[in-house]
Amino acid sequence: MADYPQGLVRTRELSDGRAVTIRPIRPEDAEIEQDFVRHLSEESRYSRFMSQLHELSASKLKYFTDIDYDRHLALIAVAVEGDREIEIGVARYVGLPKHDRCEFAIAVDDAWQGSGVARILMTALMDAARERGFRNMQGTVLATNHRMLGFVRRLGFSVHSDAEDPGTVTAERQL
Ligand SMILES: CC(C)(COP(=O)(O)OP(=O)(O)OC[C@H]1O[C@@H](n2cnc3c(N)ncnc32)[C@H](O)[C@@H]1OP(=O)(O)O)[C@@H](O)C(=O)NCCC(=O)NCCS
Repeated sequence: MADYPQGLVRTRELSDGRAVTIRPIRPEDAEIEQDFVRHLSEESRYSRFMSQLHELSASKLKYFTDIDYDRHLALIAVAVEGDREIEIGVARYVGLPKHDRCEFAIAVDDAWQGSGVARILMTALMDAARERGFRNMQGTVLATNHRMLGFVRRLGFSVHSDAEDPGTVTAERQL
């Protein structure tokens, strides 16, 4: 099993004062990861996965949670609700065949959007990717996802249209 990168665990305060913990995902997080996906609105789920899925298949869930923390890293944001921990956001990168490039994706629970979770996750993800030797990060975004496009532009990504698919654009940034 890959060594757990404990140094990436941190606690942050959101703009509305709520506290979240950011940490790399673990195989034991499969249940909260699945709950997170099921709980997303149809629109958010479609924006993230670009398909009509309602939940992750068993193999996808394993792929998303059992990772090597190097070529594939996922950071989750978790909060405590009552006596249990819930996942409220996740950002991941996966290394591309060209060795110093990786592809990212992110989603935040609808009820937690707009309070800075995505900015915290993306900043931490970019730092971790850079530390692991990646020099370039890119992601596919629906061309109609103006909120995400504004956000990544403010994070320093450039956005260009996708020759193969007019419905999506590629956001790309040197790290
Ligand atoms: C896009 C998404 C990740 C943003 O998450 P979030 O936690 O709401 O983001 P934050 O609160 O950190 O805010 C991100 C930016 O959006 C802006 N923003 C917040 N609420 C907004 C709104 N209602 N409309 C437009 N922009 C908004 C913020 O000002 C912020 O910009 P800044 O950090 O440069 O100031 C979230 O909306 C989401 O999960 N969408 C569905 C999945 C998706 O689209 N994923 C992208 C495909 S990879």
